[in-house]
Amino acid sequence: MAKSFIRIDDNDHGYALAQFCIPKHYEEDLDHVLIPAGLINDRTERIARDIVEDFGHEPIVGLCVLKGGYKFFTDLVDKIQILNRNSRQSVQLAVDFIRLKSYVNDSSTGSIEVIGGDNLENLKGKNVLVVEDIIDTGRTMKQLLELLESVGPKSVKVASLLVKRTKDNVGYRPDYIGFEVPNLFVVGYALDFNEYFRDLTHICVINENGKKKYSTKS
Ligand code: HPA
Ligand code: MG
Repeated sequence: MAKSFIRIDDNDHGYALAQFCIPKHYEEDLDHVLIPAGLINDRTERIARDIVEDFGHEPIVGLCVLKGGYKFFTDLVDKIQILNRNSRQSVQLAVDFIRLKSYVNDSSTGSIEVIGGDNLENLKGKNVLVVEDIIDTGRTMKQLLELLESVGPKSVKVASLLVKRTKDNVGYRPDYIGFEVPNLFVVGYALDFNEYFRDLTHICVINENGKKKYSTKS
């Protein structure tokens, strides 16, 4: 069953920085707030409910894609735990982590590299729920899924907080989507630009000043 998501339009410029609390060290580096933390929270609550309803009584392993996925992952797990202890239907959840590298500055390097995490062999025969921050071209996720399939899981589903509308998408759509966003570089809520901005509460659009200030010269 295709799930719905919140679509943020290309001419939706979100909220002025001055309307929210932004750390002083990032004030000059952002264009606008695209998705306030409160909205992320409410949307995550609903995705948690969809997951609990869909998985019924089958145990799952939540596989967090580090580092960008960590905020969405921990908030999603918290909300699944709340549902589990407050209803007669519950889903048993184990957690696992994987760390990939595919981005330098604001462009993909083309191939993924697994640079850390648990042994993937542990996922053999399991129902795996991959939790990602953002699907951009979809190439990273396609490669990760191929890698996961090679260890023989029982099933694999993907939850991504964001999906970017880009012409470069290889046609991949995750099973659960929080928001579909314009083709802009977004940061905050653990999404980074060269490791900066993970300590920003809201999802914001970076500006040229921010890109320049935090670019990795190569
Ligand atoms: N922000 C942060 N990380 C990303 C993005 C983005 O817009 N696209 C792909 N990885
Ligand atoms: Mg990332």
